Amino acid sequence: MNACLRSVVRNAVFHGFEVIGVRNGYDGLIKQRVMPLNLRSVGNIIQRGGTFLGSSRSTEFRTTRGRAQAYSYLKALDVGALITLGGDGTLSGAGIFSQEFPIQVIGVPSSIDNDLCETDLSLGFDTAVNTAVECIDRIRDTADSHGRIFVVEVMGKSSGHIALETALAAGVEYAVIPESKLREKDLVRKIQQGVNRGKSGSIVIVAEKKDPGYALDLSKVICRHVKRDVRAVVLGHLQRGGSPSRIDRNLASRFGAKAVELVRAKKTRLMVAVQDDEIVAVPFQKVVGKRRYADLSRLKLVDTLSI
Ligand code: F6P
Repeated sequence: MNACLRSVVRNAVFHGFEVIGVRNGYDGLIKQRVMPLNLRSVGNIIQRGGTFLGSSRSTEFRTTRGRAQAYSYLKALDVGALITLGGDGTLSGAGIFSQEFPIQVIGVPSSIDNDLCETDLSLGFDTAVNTAVECIDRIRDTADSHGRIFVVEVMGKSSGHIALETALAAGVEYAVIPESKLREKDLVRKIQQGVNRGKSGSIVIVAEKKDPGYALDLSKVICRHVKRDVRAVVLGHLQRGGSPSRIDRNLASRFGAKAVELVRAKKTRLMVAVQDDEIVAVPFQKVVGKRRYADLSRLKLVDTLSI
């Protein structure tokens, strides 16, 4: 998100706009926490994870009153356009806000879950997957040398994009994702097959459920059936931080430029997106309230490759 903020500010300044940064997302509009941004405010942030403006899951912005307060503040500041960065919650907020009030609103898909429709990638996903793959590579050293089975939990409670992409890249033995019903018998059979073949260690990747900790439950199931040491690892917020990948940084810069281009063109209710490596704009109504599910043919490939 920092790389995108840098791009928004620099593109906007280049085209003669004044830019104001809002602290902590929608909450900052309600609590009136903003700061002027200039070229220097966004120096030396392209390599930093997260967002220097801060973020929040605003409950007040979900209310009509909260949104009205946010709009009167924007009006008082004489703001003509709002660019929002976030996942489905942020975009739903942007969708409703832009319907209720006469202000230009442009969204930028930013979610490690990568589950927003109409865009091949959301900001943060590539970095999160790279981190998860690196962690699993490290875990595999113990799995192999100690002959253990590891159940590694990644984020993505409603979609298995992180789990599947990581599973393929790290060559795991089994992936459990929300899009496909878990068959415990198959899971245990697959692991047992590996043990019988003399495989030293195995790795199972699971996408978290509503609350983190599903990996612990699953490791107990495996423990009951397979005579091997089983360990659970929850990667958690490790996946949401760290220096962004080249793919994320460059996508962020391109998204930021497109967002400013749309503002200049007086467009509204659009989300920038990438489709077949082209940066495009898609209407909010094609994205809000929808979810892009993981591709099950990849799950099949994980299964085939771990034969
Ligand atoms: O929505 C993105 C996400 O990273 C999910 O994958 C995860 O379940 C959730 O955020 C964690 O949210 P929080 O940091 O609020 O616990």
